[in-house]
Amino acid sequence: MKKKVLSVLLVLVMLAGVLTGCSKTSGMNKDKFVKACEKLKLTELEIDEMDEIEENVEDGFYFAGDEDLIADKSKIIDTYLKIAKLSKAFDSDDIVSIAFAAKCAGYDDIKESEGPEDVELDGAFAFQMDFGQKDKAEDVMDGIAKLLKQVNIKTKKLTPKEYYVSKNEGYIRFHIDLEKFARIILDDDDLTDSLKDLYDVDIEDTMEDLKGDIAVSVEIKGSNIFIFAGGAVNSEKKVYKDFVKAFGLATDPMSLPMNEEVADDMTELIVSYAKYISKARDAKKRLTDPIGGTGGTGGTGSTGGTGSTGGTGSTGGNPDNKGIQGSGKVGISMPTKDLMRWAQDGDRMKKELEAMGYTVDLRYAGNQVTVQVQQIQDMIEIGCEVIVVAAIESSSVIQVLENAKAQGVTVIAYDRLIYGTEAVDYYVSFDNYMVGQLQGKYIVEALDLDNANGSFNIEITAGDPTDNNAALFYQGAMDAIKPYIDSGKLKVLSGQKDFKDVATDSWKTDNAQARAENILAAYYPSGTNIDAWLCSNDSTACGVINALDKYYKGNYPVITGQDCDILSVKHIIAGKQAMSVFKDTRTLASQAAKMASQVMNGQKVDVNDTDTYNNGKKDISSYLCSPVFVTVDNYKTILVDSGYYTQDALDY
Ligand code: GAL
Repeated sequence: MKKKVLSVLLVLVMLAGVLTGCSKTSGMNKDKFVKACEKLKLTELEIDEMDEIEENVEDGFYFAGDEDLIADKSKIIDTYLKIAKLSKAFDSDDIVSIAFAAKCAGYDDIKESEGPEDVELDGAFAFQMDFGQKDKAEDVMDGIAKLLKQVNIKTKKLTPKEYYVSKNEGYIRFHIDLEKFARIILDDDDLTDSLKDLYDVDIEDTMEDLKGDIAVSVEIKGSNIFIFAGGAVNSEKKVYKDFVKAFGLATDPMSLPMNEEVADDMTELIVSYAKYISKARDAKKRLTDPIGGTGGTGGTGSTGGTGSTGGTGSTGGNPDNKGIQGSGKVGISMPTKDLMRWAQDGDRMKKELEAMGYTVDLRYAGNQVTVQVQQIQDMIEIGCEVIVVAAIESSSVIQVLENAKAQGVTVIAYDRLIYGTEAVDYYVSFDNYMVGQLQGKYIVEALDLDNANGSFNIEITAGDPTDNNAALFYQGAMDAIKPYIDSGKLKVLSGQKDFKDVATDSWKTDNAQARAENILAAYYPSGTNIDAWLCSNDSTACGVINALDKYYKGNYPVITGQDCDILSVKHIIAGKQAMSVFKDTRTLASQAAKMASQVMNGQKVDVNDTDTYNNGKKDISSYLCSPVFVTVDNYKTILVDSGYYTQDALDY
């Protein structure tokens, strides 16, 4: 009897052993994790010692924390959960414990290495988290799969030994044999060239001698996730193997053959990454290279256009450059789509130029100067004959425009003059000084300052300090109202009158609103009237109106604007905003398209001002369109009857 029981027990133990042996996951939890770290003799760090990670990587360290610490670090943990696409599955409140460990032999020698071929690394990284909820394996694995997809690792290409998921358990494991991976890269000319360009090293030498393996394992069991990664480059795998043993991985991912399909997909990613980095590096290089000391946006800005009418043509294209004849391509670089007018400018120019048979590369840079630089560089590389640029910030595009000039590209500065470079051939805009004059004079007339008794309170909100136009709008308006400020007819209760004190970063409505709220709170207690608010454009006028709606009880002051954005025209109809300078983007866009076409056909380019706009390097041949302004009395004629907006679009 005893024997029988014994043999049954033996079978059961063997069965359990077999099961455990091929158990899908190690079922790692915090206690097991800490035991493994102690077995590996890793140095324990406390949360407030995390800045000592670098000193401890070579010999290995670990860290473990539970609810108290997690509550303390919940914000950063939630951020990482979002990055890891896990925030749908759970958030930091659910997390019971968290721990990680790392060791990397050779880490301290990296700085001395000459290049990738000299690097010898053997390391591993382990991370454990108890996210406190069972049956979440599928959600978590879904988040991880999304994350892997971002590096071109598609779970559908993994084998059952590499990928498994159920309600309560799951794993992802894969192994990259670096020698084989190097072979794939070297067989891919596109990739080799990109890597050569990126690292400025002979990539063949680096790759030919590359030895080693990289492996990743993600295990989920119940509410615990255990992520393990590591490997060796040009070195033995002692650290890696010690970690695998100490943490008791259910399967060592390095025991799996490399998944060739996954490796192929990853090389595509490396190609695009290498190309992007080398371009971004070049763009950054251009941005940071000393530009012959002509940095800075101001230049010797003109005192404001006279907007002379009548044309004095100038020769087509860069007279001293051949131009990239015949490509028929035009690049249009706009600052952002966030402000309606730029979207309209860009669309209009594109439509008109395409109607003339040209190919148009229209880009919006999201108000990011480095993006705009890269986009202009791309336009040069695809062979644009003409590039039309509304610069986000003048000095940032100098270098790339000089690259364009060197390639014979004609550059038209659109709406915003670009200072500090000979590379600008033409400027097309509205008379921006006149825009400011219209705004200032409107206030003078609306308040009847020449005849009315008493004094009036005014505040000023200007545009982006890096936008040359903003300075011109401000100057034009101040030249109109300054005599009344000096005489005391107009009072600026906040005392904020200088451009730098009244400018609005990126023309943002929120920024204008925040400053207006502060001014109202500090200088306009109830009963104190504000009679006028000079705003340089509509997005800032919206910010002022939002602030007035929140904190001001009196009648709306005389508020100026510019661009006739739909929301602001609605404010004009509703009596919240008094006027907006209308710079018909159809006129401006058509004029720019016409000039670009004239350049490409070698015709005389239509300009009406050759001596007002000096950009600090030369007088720029310009075409200035005349702005008008819109009020509640004339918006129908100027905006609706002209087809700029439909009446429906303007109805609340
Ligand atoms: C200026 C432009 C204005 C307005 C402002 C906001 O440069 O001349 O019309 O659009 O930018 O982007």
